[in-house]
Amino acid sequence: MISKSQKTYKIITFGCQMNARDSEKLAGVLEEKGYVEGIDDVSSDIVIFNTCTVRENASNRLYGRVGYLKKSCMENKNKIVGICGCMMQEKDEVETIKKKYPYVKLIFGTHNIDEFSLYIDRALSEDKRVIEVRDKALGVERDMPSKRVFPFKCGVNIMYGCDNFCAYCIVPYVRGRERSRDVKAIIDEIKRDIADGVIEVMLLGQNVNSYKGKDTDGNIVSFPDLLDRVCKIEGLKRVRFMTSHPKDLSDELIKVVRDNENCCKHIHLPVQSGSTHILEMMNRHYTRDSYVDIVDKIRREIPDVAITTDIIVGFPGESEDDFEATLSLVKEVKFDSVFTFEYSKRTGTKAASMENQVDEKVVKDRFERLLKEVESSSRTNIDRYIGRVIDVLVESKDREKGKLTGRLSNNYLVHFDGDESLVGKIVDVKLIKPFGFYFEGKLC
Ligand code: 5AD
Ligand code: SF4
Repeated sequence: MISKSQKTYKIITFGCQMNARDSEKLAGVLEEKGYVEGIDDVSSDIVIFNTCTVRENASNRLYGRVGYLKKSCMENKNKIVGICGCMMQEKDEVETIKKKYPYVKLIFGTHNIDEFSLYIDRALSEDKRVIEVRDKALGVERDMPSKRVFPFKCGVNIMYGCDNFCAYCIVPYVRGRERSRDVKAIIDEIKRDIADGVIEVMLLGQNVNSYKGKDTDGNIVSFPDLLDRVCKIEGLKRVRFMTSHPKDLSDELIKVVRDNENCCKHIHLPVQSGSTHILEMMNRHYTRDSYVDIVDKIRREIPDVAITTDIIVGFPGESEDDFEATLSLVKEVKFDSVFTFEYSKRTGTKAASMENQVDEKVVKDRFERLLKEVESSSRTNIDRYIGRVIDVLVESKDREKGKLTGRLSNNYLVHFDGDESLVGKIVDVKLIKPFGFYFEGKLC
């Protein structure tokens, strides 16, 4: 129960795991200031939108919601609506907010989230709006408090930014150049999380395989080496990581995943397209064949591994033949899960100025065809687990259906009957029936 005198906050997060992690930090700062999480954005005293700009439609969703808050801002003059995250690194978006949403009191970008506490103080005490967006990061972000969504698992940033400049992607422009955190800072943070009840961590970076952090002697440590050190931390039951770029996924990494029992057997390996020509235009630095070779190697070395991917349809210049190459790749690889995206033109990227943009109708049609292929070829993957007893981390209990939801090491979900006290624990579950991307199971 929230008492009437208590000040409340709501954080609304768009986008990826990195943003979800940032939102936990924003919540940590607000809780330190004595705020508690409110029921919704309309009734809360502080509302922060943590935005994403990877695809265009995110901005429509954001502005719809910000517009809706106008009335509550008029009624509560002390209410603070703030907007941060990737979209705020784009000058046009900041201009739009300045002009159209005068009641938004705080705007800040991705490079200064560690100054959030100060910005909130200023927004509370100053009459004018607080707008703090930096073009570049000053260094690696300072430590911040955080309030985890799940008490038993959390994300841990190992690096920030990206240097890859895939032709369609805005991330290098809004998140800046790649910066790796030092090994000690990462390990110390995980040890603190474990002391606080965490049993699963997810190491986060736009391209974790290019991690180059320093150890205390100043030596450069690679991602497989870091992952191995993290897996060996006492008390850590599960370690995940995201995202891997296929161009530099090494044999060492496969070995570390294979040889550490607590390293989850799931690799998210975005392929983006099945056409080597399009991959080249995308600046991805691998071919269809080299991608298939990596997948084969991973599956040979790591039994029961799940491989998931991202695919974009309608990249400029994508012909029917290129698209069919994507369909045939999906059929051939049989991914465990595929996140599908219609290409979205992002101003400032190389692809935005390419002349051969694909017609919207064609993109929609291909997107539907891809979905159908994904559905029929991934189903064939899940049947192999039926009848087996597998350890799962229980994540939640659905109040309406009364079932627990647990996650397998390879990231599949399973629903089963059980007591709420099991949430946050690892238990054995027999997998009984497949339903698309999850199982029905029975507690053993
Ligand atoms: N249009 C569509 N999808 C995109 N992604 C990144 N940029 C774009 C874009 N401009 C997708 C990629 C990436 C995922 C996080 O988002 O598939 O892997
Ligand atoms: Fe974007 Fe490519 Fe970097 Fe991923 S690797 S964040 S797709 S530029």
